[in-house]
Amino acid sequence: MAGERPISVCFVCLGNICRSPTAEGVMRHLVARAQLGSKIEISSAGTAGYHTGELPDRRSRAAALERGIELQSRARQFAAADWDRFDYVLAMDGENFDALAAQAPRAARSRLRMLREFDPESEPRSDVPDPYYGGADGFEHVLDLCEAACAGLLEHIRREHAL
Ligand code: 4NP
Repeated sequence: MAGERPISVCFVCLGNICRSPTAEGVMRHLVARAQLGSKIEISSAGTAGYHTGELPDRRSRAAALERGIELQSRARQFAAADWDRFDYVLAMDGENFDALAAQAPRAARSRLRMLREFDPESEPRSDVPDPYYGGADGFEHVLDLCEAACAGLLEHIRREHAL
């Protein structure tokens, strides 16, 4: 691609305090390791705005830190203008996907995908399950799923953009 603008990615869950900040942190880590930080911009958002301005859930932060990943995003709600801003909008589960699909402008619809589509080990339309009301193992599971899917997503982006 000839353009100067970085490729932009936004992970979206419900609250933007557990799953999508985890995916954002994992993807930042992978992109930095691949030395593509100047080429790929990474963000996250929630379909709901209940937690706007908050840091990620402390359980998500603790689990990520164990793997050397610091989660520092602040929660925000996905906005209509985000459809112009992002090249890839990755829904963490089917509910998030449906909520986003219902508001996506026609021209942006193909930018919306389920994150786990990019995990070659996963079934079609697999969710990253919401860990919010469960135990610590749920947060580990979210990290495992994000690591697998984000590795596949990065490969996909590198292929599509010849990076
Ligand atoms: P997330 O998890 O969508 O992965 O950030 C949730 C966080 C908060 C709530 C639900 C899910 N909540 O109902 O407040």
